[in-house]
Amino acid sequence: MCVRRAVYYDPDTAKEDPSKQGVCSNFLCNSKPGDKIKITGPSGKIILLPEDDPNATHIMIANGTGVVPFRGYLRRMFMESVPKFKFGGLAWLFLGVANTDSILYDDEFTKYLKDYPDNFRYDKALNREQKNRSGGKMYVQDKIEEYSDEIFKLLDNGAHIYFCGLKGMMPGIQDTLKKVAEQRGENWEEKLSQLKKNKTMEC
Ligand SMILES: NC(=O)c1ccc[n+]([C@@H]2O[C@H](COP(=O)([O-])OP(=O)(O)OC[C@H]3O[C@@H](n4cnc5c(N)ncnc54)[C@H](OP(=O)(O)O)[C@@H]3O)[C@@H](O)[C@H]2O)c1
Repeated sequence: MCVRRAVYYDPDTAKEDPSKQGVCSNFLCNSKPGDKIKITGPSGKIILLPEDDPNATHIMIANGTGVVPFRGYLRRMFMESVPKFKFGGLAWLFLGVANTDSILYDDEFTKYLKDYPDNFRYDKALNREQKNRSGGKMYVQDKIEEYSDEIFKLLDNGAHIYFCGLKGMMPGIQDTLKKVAEQRGENWEEKLSQLKKNKTMEC
């Protein structure tokens, strides 16, 4: 389980306010090895790997702990032994984190890269360490722009695309995809509604 402790800082005093700390994250982070914990779920919208075509392409865009559902997808593809799902397609993970030391599960992903070079691609945007083309922070949308030609070709050929992470990352990503579509003489809104209709896009 991947849990990030949620702590609230009062914007006026810049001091921590324990009365508003994240209930679930702090409960889990304060628990000790051996403690018994009751869990339930999933609740609300669930995100599941479509397994009807084991040769499909899956493009995964994540920020921070948003990588967690994709870690599950990748374990399913490359680690678990599933008789009816022998993955032979392409999984491409784009991960945005602040610094090298905040990359989650890098060892797992690097191993997949080594063991399955034809089926896995892994690109990181280290927000505060790398610079984008205009000299600003390197965000996942900058990486998407860098590989936009390939991404659009894959989408045209039926690739699935997923986004998970901060809600605030979506406007920047949408703007980038729109800009790229326009450069290619395509209408992003139409493409987006087609992707959603085909159920090949999940946020
Ligand atoms: N649905 C699920 O299953 C699931 C699972 C896990 C997590 N999540 C969600 O994923 C989110 C991740 O939170 P976190 O605390 O782990 O992330 P975080 O560390 O706060 O953010 C990760 C990176 O995103 C960058 N970022 C900030 N604004 C951005 C923007 N507009 N465009 C692109 N990148 C941007 C940040 O860069 P800077 O700080 O340098 O600006 C930061 O380095 C949470 O909202 C969590 O609830 C969902």
